Amino acid sequence: MSLVQTVLKLLANGEFHSGSALGRVTGCSRSAVWKAIKALRDSGLEIYSVRGKGYRLSRPVEMLDMDKVRAALNTGSVQAIHCLEVFHDIDSTNTYLLERAKQGDNRVRACLAETQRTGRGRRGRNWVSPPGGNLYLSLSWCFDSGARGLSGLSLAAAVAVMRALAGMGLHQARLKWPNDILCEGRKLAGILLELAGEAEGPCAVVVGVGLNVRVPPGEMSSVEQPWTDLETALCATVSRNGLAARLLNELCHALASFEHQGLEPFLEEWAQWDGLAGQDVCLALPQGTVRGVVRGVDEHGALLLAHDGVLQRYHSGEVSVRLAADPRDPAQ
Ligand code: BTN
Repeated sequence: MSLVQTVLKLLANGEFHSGSALGRVTGCSRSAVWKAIKALRDSGLEIYSVRGKGYRLSRPVEMLDMDKVRAALNTGSVQAIHCLEVFHDIDSTNTYLLERAKQGDNRVRACLAETQRTGRGRRGRNWVSPPGGNLYLSLSWCFDSGARGLSGLSLAAAVAVMRALAGMGLHQARLKWPNDILCEGRKLAGILLELAGEAEGPCAVVVGVGLNVRVPPGEMSSVEQPWTDLETALCATVSRNGLAARLLNELCHALASFEHQGLEPFLEEWAQWDGLAGQDVCLALPQGTVRGVVRGVDEHGALLLAHDGVLQRYHSGEVSVRLAADPRDPAQ
């Protein structure tokens, strides 16, 4: 464990720790400890320093803990997940599992990270991943059906995340096709699905979930769209380890069910949580923008859009959706 990780672990209880005590426990000089504190501050954590008392986090942090996550998994997930790993920092949990899948490891693997250096979002965007508050989680799963059989999987994964949130008592979250999760119009979670394998043969899917749990405002200043976090939405403190296990339980259940039954078992919940149904939206397509009213999704997960009196289907990856009321929408 690096010094930065050790110092964060010591500070996690939210109490004061003097520089000399931190130095003593870690076996490092005070200046090395100071550099570790600076690195933690640079990564977005709020750390107070008070003369004569030392350093303290503005709030205690529940560190991610593999044993705690594992202890909260249900039997189905324990049986399904071959390997569960928790990293302090990583480039991207998706990249990590994708590389393993590309090397031919087709077992179910899950990984979580406290922070990601190059977290990735959809459409080539980056996913800002400060430590100590959010969840960055990926699960890899092998499907025998090949990539062609997987249309709709990203919607099933989004329903799985919604089920986990509902289990936490959050009922006001809504889905924005294909798999954004919003709360009162602000982004709460995003899902990135990536594939390794063939169109016809076996293929591995990495489902990556980024979920804002507790975000001090300064940490997300580079995020362009409006966002919120789970603790704000619930007005309560959330156990990240418990939530991670809940997400893994729902994702394992959903992926196993999708493998056998496709999207059908998810459609009713999709409709119930669909935040776009009946809304006038703009779709940005490679060839231009179309506008219409959302009429839900079809049995494969394609967006149904009514425009000029015709119902059209749009598939994931071909379109981008913006609410018509969005002032940044270039189509208006
Ligand atoms: C989106 O753009 O809405 C999708 C965001 C997905 C972010 C998660 S965080 C865990 C996993 N690792 C990544 O690099 N990305 C996904």
